[in-house]
Amino acid sequence: MWGFPVATQVLEVSPDGNAICRLEDIPDGGAIAVDIDSSTGGFSLILLRQGDRIFAYHNECPHAGRRLDWAPGKFLVKDGAVICAAHGATFDVASGAALAGPCRNGLAPMPLLVRDGLVVMP
Ligand code: FES
Repeated sequence: MWGFPVATQVLEVSPDGNAICRLEDIPDGGAIAVDIDSSTGGFSLILLRQGDRIFAYHNECPHAGRRLDWAPGKFLVKDGAVICAAHGATFDVASGAALAGPCRNGLAPMPLLVRDGLVVMP
């Protein structure tokens, strides 16, 4: 299945850390985009989910620096891989490694934790 239902989220700060979203906000087997505000202008992440595990990367393809989504928060995810909408580079969801397409480098990871059903920045 291509193009899982997705949503674009905005960083929310909780009393016990930087909670980005709830685990249940990410469709199992799919992905969402999260926009992180910062003093330098912010950035976008892709959060992918496989059951209780999540994988987060900068939403920027190493090939030509384009966002991975084909529309804001809408990603091509299939069989454990995410495909860049610009030119088709394919990356392993679990590692971010480049699998196919015009890109040799993998995705830039962002370490996140799942704690009490929340996805948080450690
Ligand atoms: S920008 Fe992603 S494959 Fe070209």
